[in-house]
Amino acid sequence: MACVNDSLGELPHGRPPQTEFDTGLDYPRLGSVTFRRGTLTPNQEQLFDEWWPRLGRILTHSDEDQTIDVDEWFGRSGHKTIVEIGSGTGTSTAAMAPLEKDTNVIAVELYKPGLAKLLGSVVRGGIENIRMVRGDGVEVLARMFPPESLDGVRIFFPDPWPKARHHKRRIIQSGTLNLIATRLKPGGVLHVATDHADYAEWINELVEVEPMLEYKGWPWENAPILTDRQVITKFEGKGLDKQHVISEYLWVKK
Ligand SMILES: C[S@@+](CC[C@H](N)C(=O)[O-])C[C@H]1O[C@@H](n2cnc3c(N)ncnc32)[C@H](O)[C@@H]1O
Repeated sequence: MACVNDSLGELPHGRPPQTEFDTGLDYPRLGSVTFRRGTLTPNQEQLFDEWWPRLGRILTHSDEDQTIDVDEWFGRSGHKTIVEIGSGTGTSTAAMAPLEKDTNVIAVELYKPGLAKLLGSVVRGGIENIRMVRGDGVEVLARMFPPESLDGVRIFFPDPWPKARHHKRRIIQSGTLNLIATRLKPGGVLHVATDHADYAEWINELVEVEPMLEYKGWPWENAPILTDRQVITKFEGKGLDKQHVISEYLWVKK
């Protein structure tokens, strides 16, 4: 008989369904890298089996309601909620969360070893305000969070997809900005960072495209959420080594 935990943290088989948005805007189309597998160390496996059921969720393929009851999941009510899309190994996530203990932080990532690493930081660091979702950030936003439910959305160093024929995979697009705007509460903040010059130009073209978002530029001293990422991530580090400039962007939901 198969062990119950065989599928713990595993995405369902097959290509995940992609919502057909009827906005006429542009949305990222997933590339095959999305489905890459990764192996966990035996320690990570053990930690995952023990903690994922409490701290993690998976976006399933089913059509059933997958809306997250944030208050129930975090065991408290009336707190701000921020979703970070593409948290990677969670370096920024784990560094920021202790400085925003009153905020519920939900890290969304497709790559299981990244989530396992963040889970390790959360458990070892006794960080209580982080939860994790494995799934495509666009679908997670669309299916797991109701409109006007979030105080912030973070996207730090999204995959740059440098080749022109892959630009359609970039997560920052008019449709994603619209989706994020619908999920943010009025006054909620979108924070994006990239170290990729061409992606920065791409984002520059889009900063004013979504009418529900007011572009605030960078920095924004009175931003209502923490905007200092605290650390130089692995990807950011690589960028800096190549003397890339980091571009950061903030928007507020009108
Ligand atoms: C370049 S890494 C940056 C990771 C992290 N934010 C950092 O600064 O170190 C981009 C991450 O986004 C994840 N990712 C890409 N597309 C995604 C999507 N549609 N939904 C969720 N995560 C995604 C990738 O798996 C990868 O871990």
